[in-house]
Amino acid sequence: MGLYPLIRPLVFALEAERAHRLTIAALKLRPVHRQQPSSPSSLAIKDTGLDFPNPIGLAPGFDKDAEVFGQALGLGFGFVEVGTLTPRPQAGNLKPRLFRLAEDRAVINRMGFNNQGQAAARGRLAAGPRAGIVGVNIGANKDSANRAHDYAEGVRAMAPVADYLTINISSPNTPGLRDLQDKEALEGLLTVVTMAGRGSANSARPPVFLKVAPDLEPSDIDDIARAALDFGLDGLIVANTTISRPPLRSRHRDEQGGLSGAPLRALALQRLRDFRKATGGRIPLIGVGGIESGRDAYERIRAGASLVQLYSALVYEGPGLVRRMLKELEQHLTRDGFASVADAVGTE
Ligand SMILES: Cc1cc2nc3c(=O)[nH]c(=O)nc-3n(C[C@H](O)[C@H](O)[C@H](O)COP(=O)(O)O)c2cc1C
Repeated sequence: MGLYPLIRPLVFALEAERAHRLTIAALKLRPVHRQQPSSPSSLAIKDTGLDFPNPIGLAPGFDKDAEVFGQALGLGFGFVEVGTLTPRPQAGNLKPRLFRLAEDRAVINRMGFNNQGQAAARGRLAAGPRAGIVGVNIGANKDSANRAHDYAEGVRAMAPVADYLTINISSPNTPGLRDLQDKEALEGLLTVVTMAGRGSANSARPPVFLKVAPDLEPSDIDDIARAALDFGLDGLIVANTTISRPPLRSRHRDEQGGLSGAPLRALALQRLRDFRKATGGRIPLIGVGGIESGRDAYERIRAGASLVQLYSALVYEGPGLVRRMLKELEQHLTRDGFASVADAVGTE
């Protein structure tokens, strides 16, 4: 047991966004090591040309401005995704915009892509060697006249400092953004993004992932899967927060925004299975949503994910969670006779 259970009541006494800023400030005080802590060798996985020491990543939204990715890697994460970063800085929605639903082990947020912009993050990402894999999640400014253009700009600006890029078209908090998931809009976007990627120097052509919402109809899933395969995307990230509301107990349950954490688990798992079926295992999948234990990570891997990510569980479990999950995941693999994570992917 770490210290977190003792500190948690103090953290929870603070307004949620303030607590988050303090967490970032506290992490900044920790030293950044050149080497990541070692993970058991059975947890290593090679995917889209990258060597992940383990498959558990920090989901975007925690380190939006690339301030603490080094420290996050030091917690044991196999990779960290920063962002969402938009071309120009923007303030995001009015506060309060972040809510803890403690009784439900959930979070609702309507941050609205608050971030300092790509140039500021780019400077931090370019400063010095990194201890591990850092992906960059890009989005469009709320007031952009041409959203596809914003993504192309993001690819050009961030490819040189990213181990991978994520095209995020699934945030519920930028009005109209998720319409980019519709067939024609998506094909138009991917055409523009692919061209921007080709323009990059060979050395700066990181893998490109697409992050989708869990709130999709079967026909949307087929269209997205087809487009991802046709355009040669390197992975699909399933999923972002949900605008649906499974039964919740907390007083914040009716707040507008995207729901994450435990109540998202079943829906995100189902969507992962849907995308596994729609893509037939021909494209790597990254599972996200309600993952809070090694068992959850293992379940997502068996359902077809090569990698997983989490955010909300950190709020409830604290930073020691990652190490505990790695140990648990290793135990599940050994128990079921898998020599590696790759052997277990999609075996459910
Ligand atoms: C406060 C907060 C902010 C988030 N911001 C982003 C974001 O900027 N970009 C993004 O792609 N996802 C964002 N997410 C979604 C997470 O990356 C993740 O997809 C979602 O929370 C589900 O995972 P979880 O249940 O482990 O939290 C955010 C989530 C939370 C809770």
